[in-house]
Amino acid sequence: MNRRMVLKTALYGGAALAFGNRVAAAKEHFPVSVNEGLFQNINRIKDPAHMTGLEKKHSPVIRAPEKAKPGEVFDVDIVIGEILHPMGPAHWIEYLQLNLGNEPCGRIDFRSHGYLKPKARFSVVAGNDLKGKTVSLVVQIKCNLHGIWENYRNVEVV
Ligand SMILES: [Fe+2]
Repeated sequence: MNRRMVLKTALYGGAALAFGNRVAAAKEHFPVSVNEGLFQNINRIKDPAHMTGLEKKHSPVIRAPEKAKPGEVFDVDIVIGEILHPMGPAHWIEYLQLNLGNEPCGRIDFRSHGYLKPKARFSVVAGNDLKGKTVSLVVQIKCNLHGIWENYRNVEVV
């Protein structure tokens, strides 16, 4: 083995050792396991009559009127989970985003310090161009451990 190979081996070995130590430190401070399957797709409630614990804790609950008049403001209240989601340093909601159909219209980024509850209120106006149509309020949230979750609610513009 020449000198160059020895140096390369020492460098890569040291890097691997340093990375391994970081993983061990992270596991010591945040002793939680992550289900990587939840990060493969957008998660939704599969059976509303038999919701799982994860669905109850992560699926956004959207409160909005069933009907709205064009040009008038209406409130959309969003709570993350039927069981309010924790907001601690190891497990928290990173963001909440409201779309009108495919159009993003509001987003809140949360911090992990636990100061805020994962709730939001948006004031929404459906334009005159939507009269006679149904608008979907689509909410996506992201949990640092449990991935992206989505729910929606339709509002008729009459
Ligand atoms: Fe979570």
